[in-house]
Parts: sequence; structure tokens; C-alpha cells
Amino acid sequence: MTLSHSLPSSDPPRLLIVFEGVDGSGKSTQINRLSARLDSMGILSLPTREPGGTPLGQKLREILLAPEIAVHPEAQLFLFLADRVQHAEEVLRPALEKGMIVLSDRFADATTAYQAFGAGLSRELVATLNKVALGGLSPDLTVLLDLPVPELEARLTSRDIGRTRFETLGRDYFERVRRGYLEIARVHADRTFVLDATFSPDRLESLIFSELERRFPETFVR
Ligand code: TYD
Repeated sequence: MTLSHSLPSSDPPRLLIVFEGVDGSGKSTQINRLSARLDSMGILSLPTREPGGTPLGQKLREILLAPEIAVHPEAQLFLFLADRVQHAEEVLRPALEKGMIVLSDRFADATTAYQAFGAGLSRELVATLNKVALGGLSPDLTVLLDLPVPELEARLTSRDIGRTRFETLGRDYFERVRRGYLEIARVHADRTFVLDATFSPDRLESLIFSELERRFPETFVR
């Protein structure tokens, strides 16, 4: 008897695939599509996110995204890192040890892009603290959905929470975050796949899946 969701005991996939990009770049849509596609192929995956992938993370997320609570940039950095430590220990590491494919909506590059490039905190400080928070974990592939800021503005300002966020942080902040992501992708070209987030969701889904087949044929080519 074969179970469609059982993992082969000999060679478990064990992959950490991270989706990054500015707010509104379509990460969650692509994670949901990929997870459903893998599901239909009988490949088990675990979609998760930062901030908010654990019970502690949910509380931190509420604080971080509440416009009425002032959080100093350094304090924000520590809250995102606290979320990451908990997420790595409670969700990512155990899932990877079981041989699962983890699809994470954001990871350490988000802190480099937002807190270092966007908010102007020291890159060295962010790199050092990220390293501590990760405890040795690193993505097997990072999919960067690159969205030009005018398109980000159009997408965010059509949602209430997004509009407040865009207005509070400002266009220049998001320009720096986007440039930061592209710089990280250049430095870590080996593990990063950059896509134009203005492509249609169907096209993005198919490009992402082809890249997975190319990089990890033993897991994704059927
Ligand atoms: P997210 O919920 O992924 O936003 P969206 O779904 O709109 O893309 O992330 C929440 C916000 O937190 C987002 O503006 C990015 C920010 N963030 C940081 O500033 N630093 C970090 O380390 C992380 C993980 C997120």
C-alpha cells in the first residue's frame, strides 16, 4: 500500500525554500500555489512565515505591525530576531530534521533588507545577530519576488493596513529595501532566484517550479 503523503524513508528532501520581497510582492500567493502543487504530486510541504510562525511569533507580529505602538528601530530588530530564533527552533529545525520541504514567507534576508538597508541599522550588526538567530540554518533556495516601488505603492495603498504602512515608512524606505534585496541577491547569487513580481501569478508559479526542477531534480522531477 502506498500513502500519497508518505515520504520516502531513504532520501528525504529536507529543503528550506524561502520567499522574499517587498510588501505586496505576492509571496504568500506563490507559497500557497507551490504548496498546493506539491500536495497534488504527493510531496508534503510546510508553509510558514516570519514574523508569526509560532505562538510567540504571533504575539510579536501583533506588536510589530500595530501602527499605534511605537517601536524603536533597534527594538524592532530584536523583536524580529526573537521571532526568528523561536521559529527556527520550534518549526524550521524540527521540520527539516523530519526531511520536510519548508516554504518560509521571509527569513534572515528580510532583516538585512528592512532593518539594515531600509531603516539604516549597521549591516555588520544585523549580519552578526542574524547569524546568532539562525543557529546554522540557511536557505537551500531563496526566491526573490522583485517589485518596483511604484507598483508596490499601487498594491499597498489599495489595502487599508498597507496604505498606513506605506505612508508611515515612505517611498524612499521601500526603495532602499528593494535595492537591499537586489544587493543581497547579487552577493548570494548561488542560492537566490530573482523574478519580476509584475509577471502574472501563473507565470511566476511556472517559473518557480521549473527552477525547483532544475536545482533539485531528485525531489521535484516526476
Ligand atoms: P509580511 O507579513 O511578510 O508582509 P507582507 O505579507 O505584506 O509582505 O511582513 C510584515 C512586515 O514585517 C513587512 O513589512 C516586512 C517586515 N519585516 C521586517 O521589517 N524585518 C524582518 O526581519 C521581517 C521578517 C519582516
